[in-house]
Amino acid sequence: AKKRNLTGKTILVTAGPTIEPIDPVRYISNFSSGKMGYAIAAELKERGAEVILVTGKTALTPPDGVQTVDVVTAEQMFRAATKAFDRCDAAVMCAAVADYTPQAVADTKIKKEGSAWNIALQPTRDIAAAIGAVKGTRLVAGFALETDHERANAQSKLERKNMDFIVLNSLQDDGAGFGGNTNKITILRRDGSETVFGLKSKTEVAADIVDEIEAFWAPKNAR
Ligand code: C5P
Repeated sequence: AKKRNLTGKTILVTAGPTIEPIDPVRYISNFSSGKMGYAIAAELKERGAEVILVTGKTALTPPDGVQTVDVVTAEQMFRAATKAFDRCDAAVMCAAVADYTPQAVADTKIKKEGSAWNIALQPTRDIAAAIGAVKGTRLVAGFALETDHERANAQSKLERKNMDFIVLNSLQDDGAGFGGNTNKITILRRDGSETVFGLKSKTEVAADIVDEIEAFWAPKNAR
C-alpha cells in the first residue's frame, strides 16, 4: 500500500475537455481524453487526500472515493472549480478548457445556406489564472502543451497564472500528450529549476506529479 502522506489535504483536480455549444446539435471542443487528470485524481486519493474532480465530458469512470462534479462548458467549469477551491489546499489544473466560446447559442438548429459560415466567438475565462490570483500560500499546478518555444512559453504561463509548477508535455515527443496512455513531461518550477522525465504510462507520470506536490509541503530539510 502507498504511504498516505496527503492525509488531511483537500485537492481540486480539473480534467477533460470542455464543450461549447453552437446550437442544439453542434459544438466546439478538443481531443482531451481526461486520462491524465483522472490518473492524478486516483493517485492523490491513494495517498490519502480528499479529491474534488471537476470534469468535462469523458469516456472514463471516476476513481473510487473521489468527489466528482460534472460540467460541460468552460463557464460551468470556471464556476464549479473556483467554488470548490474555497475549501481546497491545492489545485491541479489538467482540463483542456476551450479558449473561445460562441457569443450566442442558437435556440434552433442553424440551417445550411450559402458557402461560408462564420461563428462569432468570445474568449472564455481563465480558470487557472483566477485560482492563481487568490491562492495565497496554497499550491497551484498546471499543464502546458506547446508546439514551439516550449520552455519559454511554459515558464511565462507559470508566472502569468501564478502557478507553483507547470507540467510541460511536448508534442515533439512520440507518445506524449492527448488521448494516448503514455506521456513525457518536464516539470518547471517557480525558481527556474526543472526536472525532465522519460516516456512513461500516465499512471507513472501521475505518481511523479504527486511526488512534486508532496515535496511542496515536505519540510525543506527533509528533502
Ligand atoms: O494558456 P493555456 O491554456 O495554454 O494554459 C494551460 C493551463 O491553464 C492548463 O493547466 C489548463 O488547465 C489551464 N487553463 C484553465 N482555464 C482556461 C485555460 C487554461 O484552467 N480557460
